[in-house]
Amino acid sequence: MTQEQANLPRHVAIIMDGNGRWANQQGKPRIMGHQAGVRSVQEVVRCARELDLDALTLYAFSTENWRRPGAEVESLMGLLQTYLENQLDQMVQNRVRLRTCGRTDRLPAKVRRILDNTIRETDGNEGLILNLALSYGGRDELLRATRRLSSRVAAGELTPEQISEQTIEAELDSAGLPDPDLLIRTGGERRLSNFLLWQLSYSELYFTRTLWPDFGREQFLAAITDYQQRQRRFGRTSEQLTDV
Ligand code: FPP
Repeated sequence: MTQEQANLPRHVAIIMDGNGRWANQQGKPRIMGHQAGVRSVQEVVRCARELDLDALTLYAFSTENWRRPGAEVESLMGLLQTYLENQLDQMVQNRVRLRTCGRTDRLPAKVRRILDNTIRETDGNEGLILNLALSYGGRDELLRATRRLSSRVAAGELTPEQISEQTIEAELDSAGLPDPDLLIRTGGERRLSNFLLWQLSYSELYFTRTLWPDFGREQFLAAITDYQQRQRRFGRTSEQLTDV
């Protein structure tokens, strides 16, 4: 791998968009776009591992995606299940650790079982954290965190004044993960679509017209290179940053 090692992101998050359009362009059913999308997932995960990133979060299924036709939802669940079944050995071998964010309790029992099993089998691995956002919505995550914090206040465990950014973060599904340094969205749209609303506050954003099934190693490295050339100021001036 020839990628410049300086200033690599620790955590990259990706909105994998454009599977349906990719399939349409080829006169194929949408599900074939999602199937092709799984190949991109495999390639990007491999590349993230080789770069030794700490974490990769993939938006695989949103709270809004439940509104899609039943057959498409079912196919997506099937693809997810097959992906997890096929990848378990590789994940264990490559020290990848799986975790999830979102309402995974809403997923079909078969998918939940294989998810739980993969999480258990990869628990303790110290390589890349692969975080799958499943039945995930940023507002839903914040709502659930708010409810849990309110219950703790109501139970007298916590005063409102004790609620801090840290106590909120600890209630999010992403507790313990660093915030994404870089968000990539494929497929040409330039919006967040309810993804990681809290965690993306200071992330660098990278939008590409490339459709997800056409996004592979080369495109991922191009996004990382673009990130490496940016200056993150976190509210400071650029002079302050060159002074330190
Ligand atoms: C958006 O494309 C993509 C999705 C809703 C699903 C993403 C799922 C995968 C890549 C495959 C399964 C995932 C894993 C982790 C194995 P779209 O259908 O909205 O595309 P469009 O905007 O062109 O219609």
